[in-house]
Amino acid sequence: MTQTLTLRRPDDWHLHLRDGAMLRAVLPESARDFARAIIMPNLVPPVVTAADATAYRERILAALPEGASFTPLMTLYLTEATDPADVVAAHASGLIAAVKLYPAGATTNSASGVRDMDRVQPVFEAMAEAGIPLCVHGEVTRAEIDIFDREAVFIEEVLDPIRRRTPGLRVVMEHITTADACAYLRQGGDNLGATITTHHLMINRNHILVGGIKPHYYCLPVAKRERHREALVELATSGFERVFLGTDSAPHTQASKESACGCAGVFSASVTMPCLAQVFEAAGALDRLEAFASLNGPAFYRMAPNEARITLEKGEALVIPPRIDTEDGPVVIFDPGTEILWRVTG
Ligand code: NCD
Ligand code: ZN
Repeated sequence: MTQTLTLRRPDDWHLHLRDGAMLRAVLPESARDFARAIIMPNLVPPVVTAADATAYRERILAALPEGASFTPLMTLYLTEATDPADVVAAHASGLIAAVKLYPAGATTNSASGVRDMDRVQPVFEAMAEAGIPLCVHGEVTRAEIDIFDREAVFIEEVLDPIRRRTPGLRVVMEHITTADACAYLRQGGDNLGATITTHHLMINRNHILVGGIKPHYYCLPVAKRERHREALVELATSGFERVFLGTDSAPHTQASKESACGCAGVFSASVTMPCLAQVFEAAGALDRLEAFASLNGPAFYRMAPNEARITLEKGEALVIPPRIDTEDGPVVIFDPGTEILWRVTG
């Protein structure tokens, strides 16, 4: 008998869609399975003002395939020049769902990010007052901090002080990769949520480095030791309510990944739901996949869950296409490195 699983249609609470030809190529991969996604603002130049977000939203809607049902939830890229009043107005009008904090230099296209947190304190205060979530890329950028320690150090040196200074600020710790982040999330109150990516539930740092360097597994925050991956799986599959899916699907062309200085980012939108079913089944937690992918995110963002359903079916090994074509060149699809027996069938 075929095993099937029906869930409310999932949402992706952290997604990179890019722009232009890349946007047109990757958007259908997300719109197929996901109803909504939080759209990252790290374009070049970044999405900083309400006018930028309005224009970007229009370009996304124009790139949607015929008949697709997909809602982009826009974000603004926080800079030291961000005006608190603009943020509050953009949220009140329904244009944006969140604001994104990139520490300057932390990741792809983050040069306009924040260097001095004191300078954005008025924005944090206005956001706390209005209940606007702050999505945080949680890594310090100081050269002397080891790349594998940057998330844990950020929590202690930057995130915890921000939260103490700004009572009521709603924060999403994005793409968490460490047991330290899991522990911090668990002891945070109702105003603290976190996302976990597909790939961080499936790979550890050995996948990147053992047997030759694998650029398609390189992303930021970089995957950590196996014990951290286990902590992420434990948290995601536990039914804990303040953790939800954010794929961080981040397309770069094959040429820019397979380079002497390869870009950070894993493109997983096409395979996320089958991969998650595999991870949750292995953990004996298939019944909790809906909470992680479809319920906890809307609850944190104070939105209704989707009414539509998707169905996953278990059967023959899924044949994952190695790449999608774009006018900018091919983009390699995340290879989970293991057989996937689930597929989305409806
Ligand atoms: C993202 C990208 O390519 O825009 N890359 C990544 O490795 N995750 C940026 C980000 O979210 O850090
Ligand atoms: Zn990202």
